[in-house]
Amino acid sequence: MSRKQDDDNDKRPPASSPCAMHEVDPDYMGLAPNAVSPPDTGTRALPDLGRALLDALPDAIIYADQEGTIRFWNHGAERIFGFTAAEATGKSLDIIIPQPLRSRHWEGYHRMMKTGESRHGADELLAVPARNRADEKLSIQFTVAPVPGPGGTAAGIIAVLRDVTDTFNEMKRLRGERA
Ligand code: HEM
Repeated sequence: MSRKQDDDNDKRPPASSPCAMHEVDPDYMGLAPNAVSPPDTGTRALPDLGRALLDALPDAIIYADQEGTIRFWNHGAERIFGFTAAEATGKSLDIIIPQPLRSRHWEGYHRMMKTGESRHGADELLAVPARNRADEKLSIQFTVAPVPGPGGTAAGIIAVLRDVTDTFNEMKRLRGERA
C-alpha cells in the first residue's frame, strides 16, 4: 500500500460509523446507545413560557367560556381596560364592547364556538373600537382562537388584544393633513 493510500485511510470514518459518507459524531446524531436527552426545543420550558406569555407581555390576553363569561384576564388586560382581574372575571365580555358592536361580536363568537373556525384569515387582525373602565374610547386590534375542551368541543375562546389607539389617532391626523 502506498504512503498516499495510508493517509487516505486515516481520514475515513471508522467502519462502525452510522454514515460512511460523512464523519458524524454518533452522539450528536442521537444514535449512540447511551445518547443523552434530545436538545431542548423549549418543551421543558413550556410552563415558564406560558406564564411569561400570560403575565409579562403588555398585550391583553382574555379567555372567555362557552357563554362568553370572562374566565381569565391578565395584567395587560388590567392595564389596557382598567378593570382588575377580580372585577372582570365572572362578567360578560360586554364590559369592554361598545353597545353598537355587541350583536356583531356575539354572532361571530357563537359561530366560532359552534364551528371552531374563524371567518378571518390567519394574517388578518380584527380592528375595533372598544371602551375602557373610564368609558374612554380605545382602538384595539385582536386575534382569537378556540380553546379545545373535552370530547373535541370548544371550551371557550382566547383573545390577544393590542391597544393601537395612539397609532390609529396618528394615522387619522396624517390623513387629515393630506386631505
Ligand atoms: C374590545 C372588545 C371587543 C370588541 C369591540 C369586539 C367586537 C367584535 C366584532 C365587531 C366582531 C365581528 C367581526 C367580523 O366578523 O368582521 C367580533 C367577532 C368576534 N369576537 Fe369580538 N370583540 C371584542 C373582544 C373580544 C374578545 C375579548 C373575544 C374573546 C375572548 C372575542 C371573540 C370574538 C370572536 C370569536 C369573533 C368571531 C371572529 C371570527 O369569525 O374570526 N371578542 N368581535
